Amino acid sequence: MSQQAYYERSLSVEVYPHLRIALEVVDASLPMVAVDIGCGAGRDTVFLAERGFTVYAYDKSDAAIARLSETGRIYLNETLFPQVCSFEQYEYPESTLVSACSSLFFCNPGFFPLAWRNITRSLLRGGVFCGHFMGENDSWAKKEGGDLTIHARSELEELFRRDFKIVDIYEHDAEGMTLLGRKKRWHTYSVVAQKIV
Ligand SMILES: C[S@@+](CC[C@H](N)C(=O)[O-])C[C@H]1O[C@@H](n2cnc3c(N)ncnc32)[C@H](O)[C@@H]1O
Repeated sequence: MSQQAYYERSLSVEVYPHLRIALEVVDASLPMVAVDIGCGAGRDTVFLAERGFTVYAYDKSDAAIARLSETGRIYLNETLFPQVCSFEQYEYPESTLVSACSSLFFCNPGFFPLAWRNITRSLLRGGVFCGHFMGENDSWAKKEGGDLTIHARSELEELFRRDFKIVDIYEHDAEGMTLLGRKKRWHTYSVVAQKIV
C-alpha cells in the first residue's frame, strides 16, 4: 500500500489522548498558536484549527501537505499555514502548543539535537509539547539502519529536565500492527510536558 493509502487511513483515526490532555494543560492566557510537526494528512492539524488555534503544520512529504491543504481548505491561509519542510530546517513561530504525533522519531539522529533545540526555543513559557518518541525495543529501532532517533527512558527524561515539567509519559511496549496492517513491535513513549522557563 502506498503513502497515499497511509494518509487516507490516518484521517479516520482518533486524535491521540495526549493531544487532548495538552489542550487542558496549556496556559490559556497565551496566544493560540500551534505547530504540528510531521503533520501527515493533518488529522491533528485540523483538530487544532477547529478549536480556534492558528496552526503551522509541516511535513517533508509533498503528498501530505497537498492532502492537508485539501482537508483543511476552509482554514487555509487564514488560520492554517502548511509547509513542505524537514525537522532540521523548519523555522518555528513562537508557539503555545507543539504536537509531534508519531513523527519526530523519523528524524535522523545527527539532526535531532538541532531539531529539539528549535522546538524548545519556539515554545513560550507555559506552552506544551506533546508527542511520541521511539524506544529501544521497537522493531524499527533495530531494522532501519540507524536512520531513526531512538531514546532510552533516561535519555528522554534528560531531554525535558531543564526546561519542562513532565505532565505524563505513557510507555507502550507490545506487539501490534501498523496503520497499513503490517505486524511489528511498537515501543513508544508518548509525552506531554509543559515549558516552565
Ligand atoms: C507516521 S506519520 C504521522 C503523521 C501525522 N502526525 C499523524 O499522526 O497522522 C510520520 C510523518 O512524519 C513525516 N516525516 C518523516 N521524516 C520527516 C522529516 N525529516 N521532516 C519532516 N517530516 C518528516 C512523514 O512524511 C510522515 O508524514
